[in-house]
Amino acid sequence: MRLQVVTAVAAWAVTSVCQSVPMSRNLWSRDADFKELSEKLSSSAKAYYPGTDEFKAANERWSNLDVPTVNIVVVPGTENDVVETVKFANKKQLPFLAYNSAHGAIRTLGKMTSGIEIYLDQLSGVKIAEDGKTATISGGTKSKVVTHTLWDAGKQAVTGACECVSYIGPALGGGHGWLQGRHGLIGDQFESMNIVLANGTLVTLDSSSELWWALNGAGHNFGVVTSITSKIFDVEHKDWAIEILTFSGSKVESLYDSVNKYLLKNGTQPTDVINWSYWVNMPEADPSNPVIQILIIQEGVTAVDSSYTAPFHALKPISTETHTGGYLDLAKWVGVTTTDGPCQKTGAMNPRFPIYLETYDVAAQKEAYELFAENIRGDSIFNGSLYTFDGYSMEGVRSLDDKSSAFAYREQNVLTAPLITYMPDGPELDAKAAALGNKLRQILHKGTGRSYIPAYVNYANGDEGPEEWYGSESWRQSRLQSLKKKYDPSGLFSFYAPIA
Ligand SMILES: Cc1cc2nc3c(=O)[nH]c(=O)nc-3n(C[C@H](O)[C@H](O)[C@H](O)COP(=O)(O)OP(=O)(O)OC[C@H]3O[C@@H](n4cnc5c(N)ncnc54)[C@H](O)[C@@H]3O)c2cc1C
Ligand SMILES: *[C@@H]1O[C@H](CO)[C@@H](O)[C@H](O)[C@H]1NC(C)=O
Ligand SMILES: *[C@@H]1O[C@H](CO)[C@@H](O)[C@H](O)[C@H]1NC(C)=O
Ligand SMILES: *[C@@H]1O[C@H](CO)[C@@H](O)[C@H](O)[C@H]1NC(C)=O
Repeated sequence: MRLQVVTAVAAWAVTSVCQSVPMSRNLWSRDADFKELSEKLSSSAKAYYPGTDEFKAANERWSNLDVPTVNIVVVPGTENDVVETVKFANKKQLPFLAYNSAHGAIRTLGKMTSGIEIYLDQLSGVKIAEDGKTATISGGTKSKVVTHTLWDAGKQAVTGACECVSYIGPALGGGHGWLQGRHGLIGDQFESMNIVLANGTLVTLDSSSELWWALNGAGHNFGVVTSITSKIFDVEHKDWAIEILTFSGSKVESLYDSVNKYLLKNGTQPTDVINWSYWVNMPEADPSNPVIQILIIQEGVTAVDSSYTAPFHALKPISTETHTGGYLDLAKWVGVTTTDGPCQKTGAMNPRFPIYLETYDVAAQKEAYELFAENIRGDSIFNGSLYTFDGYSMEGVRSLDDKSSAFAYREQNVLTAPLITYMPDGPELDAKAAALGNKLRQILHKGTGRSYIPAYVNYANGDEGPEEWYGSESWRQSRLQSLKKKYDPSGLFSFYAPIA
């Protein structure tokens, strides 16, 4: 057999009687249909059936709230395998969905109730161009592979911060990362991309293509990306430093007042400074309430400039931690390496409730902190939750015209989101978590005085809509809708944050 097919003995026994996979009898006749597809796929392609360990592993997700349901996993070995799988799915009228590192948590994914998973795991690799100005990154490559391969060659690119997340997943929604202050979003670095469109055609697109504008911000809606060629840069600043200051929550107002004054400065935060904060239970630091950690990260230095940290030292942290190293150490310092908690698939529900802010409303921060603390402290079922405030530097992001891509939020300085973590225990608990997350988001929203909630599509809960994900301006919505109508009229790519 050319195709490596993994089946379970038990599943096989059932299906050899009824000639189909039990879950999808009406949709998928394994013997006849699968033979037809397998003849078109390369020898390196694989397929996994339900009941196997491989199937199970390829279906594990970072968040288990409203997950997609699939009947078979196809693991392409080549770009053309993706083409053949999409064509086959269309011929049989089967839904399909690209799976990368499965950290996508938006609840709209639950609308997929059957079909083919296109698991991109084998399409991994980074090829640096001879001129050293670009690299071509395969569709399923993880961020760590990108950062490490480039670093070994004295290069770097804008990527997401988390090692285990795919390179392309974040990029399709714009993509935030450490180097965005210098160079812009991940999506701003694209030079060209290979993408399999809804009709099963593999095309190479670049800035002259009609779809280009939409792919940087609303990319999930238009195809399966099999590779991207991104700008890369020589490593200019080898050193990085971080200072992590842990505070009692009682300092919430003075802390965010200082963040506004000394760090954010309404989007003029220095390009070499990144300023995050976390609210999290840390019983060894404060047994009764979540702490506030201020993480100040600086490029090109061996210690964070005291002009940034002094205002925070003055507020008397419970503890201070400093590290010095290189770019590749950042993931370790903030806790997002492949072995850290956020990279593990534990079976938890992980809904987030994002809202972008221009600046911190100090009173709103206090109100949100108090509600968060009340609900997650002690032995609350939500006590593993984390409230994140990502203050990346913005210069590179703002250097592009706001209208230049489908990413609508270049003027927003801070990405905030409560992540309400809990183990599944029925719809009532889901509703309770959603009520808490939405209430927290509403408090910050009220503090902005704006009429609508700008929500980063890659952190989105799924209870928002296209205006929150892609910008409320009517020209944005109509431009996206007309592209969707032209390139994906049947909505084949509409499980992740659909345009309409
Ligand atoms: C721990 C953690 C850290 C994160 N860090 C960052 C960060 O630093 N910066 C940031 O911007 N975001 C970050 N995010 C958010 C992240 O952008 C989204 O969760 C994203 O969806 C993850 O992509 P994935 O490949 O892991 O997910 P998947 O669930 O595999 O993919 C999500 C969706 O993207 C689409 N998709 C994936 N690959 C392709 C492809 N090749 N072609 C077409 N469509 C595709 C599919 O629609 C899929 O449903 C983080 C999330 C987590 C959980
Ligand atoms: C597929 O769609 C693209 C974009 O609309 C179009 O250019 C191409 O000709 C189509 N291919 C086929 C085989 O219809
Ligand atoms: C912040 O900057 C934006 C433009 O980037 C401007 O419109 C706004 O008025 C500024 N806000 C304050 C408080 O200075
Ligand atoms: C969360 O609560 C559980 C009991 O429900 C407890 O065992 C655990 O230590 C708590 N975790 C934290 C971080 O407080």
